[in-house]
Amino acid sequence: MKKINIGLFGGSGKMGQQVEAVLATGVCIPYLFVGKKKSSCFAISVTSLKDVESEILEDIDVWIDFSSPDGLMNLLQFTKKTPVVSGSTGLSDRQFSVLKKASQKRPIFWASNLSIGLWAFRQALKSFSDIADFDFSIDEIHHNQKKDMPSGTALTIQKDLQKILNRKIDTPRGHRLGGVYGIHTVYAASGDEILTFQHQAINRKVFASGAVRAAEWILKQKNGFYSMDDMFLKRGKK
Ligand SMILES: NC(=O)c1ccc[n+]([C@@H]2O[C@H](COP(=O)([O-])OP(=O)(O)OC[C@H]3O[C@@H](n4cnc5c(N)ncnc54)[C@H](OP(=O)(O)O)[C@@H]3O)[C@@H](O)[C@H]2O)c1
Repeated sequence: MKKINIGLFGGSGKMGQQVEAVLATGVCIPYLFVGKKKSSCFAISVTSLKDVESEILEDIDVWIDFSSPDGLMNLLQFTKKTPVVSGSTGLSDRQFSVLKKASQKRPIFWASNLSIGLWAFRQALKSFSDIADFDFSIDEIHHNQKKDMPSGTALTIQKDLQKILNRKIDTPRGHRLGGVYGIHTVYAASGDEILTFQHQAINRKVFASGAVRAAEWILKQKNGFYSMDDMFLKRGKK
């Protein structure tokens, strides 16, 4: 199997460091690291995209991005054709449009949450169509350095629920506490009973592993915009 050259953007961040740790164990080659601190694991390490020579950019098979909405926009500008897997959250509608437009020229994978458990959680939400008349509420807790609130995952859950229940659900409530990696809770209540449905990430590796898996998967896809459903629901698609 051909080894995949990975470019990592946002490499010095909390998620970037996890991706680095996951890459050290797989079929992907940690090729180009873009981040403040140097990486000993990657073949080439730079602090800014502007420092990357064009031949090196061409050698990258797929980018993994865990930076920020602005960071992702910069990455798209610099890397015209290379596939991108991004977990950056907090994108504006305009930034989403840019992302979708860019996916006409290359495969782009974006997910507000790259853990398989959260994806399964979202599938399970479909059973709530049987109790659509219950009251619903979404809650999320993350570490106190997280920039966007409510989290991208909570907004994805809100969108899912609105589709399933065919009505509007209140904006999720966010809490920023200590070092929590991510807790998402859906409450569903009637006058007689209450359901508490929860996903907790117990490390950051789970998101990094999802990103590396998506990087391997997206290389087999045509130009277009992809997310977790495409990778897991359409398993037949190679
Ligand atoms: N989809 C998922 O499963 C998932 C899971 C966890 C986190 N996330 C998201 O992933 C992103 C990163 O999270 P994190 O916890 O790793 O954050 P973090 O610790 O703040 O790391 C972000 C890194 O990206 C760099 N960066 C940010 N904006 C940049 C720009 N415009 N140009 C170049 N570099 C830039 C930062 O560099 P500086 O230090 O120089 O600012 C930092 O090293 C956030 O949007 C977060 O919500 C997604």
